[in-house]
Amino acid sequence: MKNIALIGFMGAGKSTVAAAFQEKFGRTAIEMDEEIARREGKSIPDIFKEKGEDYFRELETAFLRELSGREGLVISCGGGVPLRPENVALLRKGGVVVWLAARPETILERTKGSDDRPLLRGKKDIGSISQLMDARREKYEAAADIRVWTDGKTGEEICREILGALDEAI
Ligand code: S3P
Repeated sequence: MKNIALIGFMGAGKSTVAAAFQEKFGRTAIEMDEEIARREGKSIPDIFKEKGEDYFRELETAFLRELSGREGLVISCGGGVPLRPENVALLRKGGVVVWLAARPETILERTKGSDDRPLLRGKKDIGSISQLMDARREKYEAAADIRVWTDGKTGEEICREILGALDEAI
C-alpha cells in the first residue's frame, strides 16, 4: 500500500486528518513534528530558537528519507516540507501527495490558541497569513497529486473525500 503524504499550510488539518486515517481506516499515522521533537528531546520552537530553522529543515529531510522506505503510512508533514525539491521527490517516490487547503480565516481560527509555531509568532492576522500562504501556494500546488479543501469538514469526511479522489486520480 502506498504512503499518503498530507501537505499544506499550518492549521490546514494535516494532523487531524492523519489521526482520523489511523482511527477510522487503520492506517499508521506519522506526525513529523511530533516525532522530530521527540527525537531531539525539544519542542519545535526550542529547536528553531536553539539550533535554527536550517537545522530543523535538515531533520525533516533526514526523516523523510527514512519514511520513504516504508509503506502504508499516512504522513502528516510539517507545513514547510514541500519547500525543498528533495523532500517532494522523497514523498512522491513511495506515495501520493495530498494538499490540504483552507481559507486564511479558517487557519487563523485553528491556530490562534497555540504558540507552538515559530513562523506564526506575531503574524496571527488574516493579512499576514494570506501573505505567507501566497508565498507557498506554488510549492504546494507543484508537489500535490490532489487538493482537498478542509474548511468546515470533519477529519473523517476529509479522509473519505481523499480516498474517493485518489481512486480517480491514480
Ligand atoms: C512549519 C510548520 C509547522 C512546523 C514548523 C514549521 C512551516 O508544522 O513544522 O513550525 O514552515 O510551515 P505544522 O504545519 O504541522 O504546523
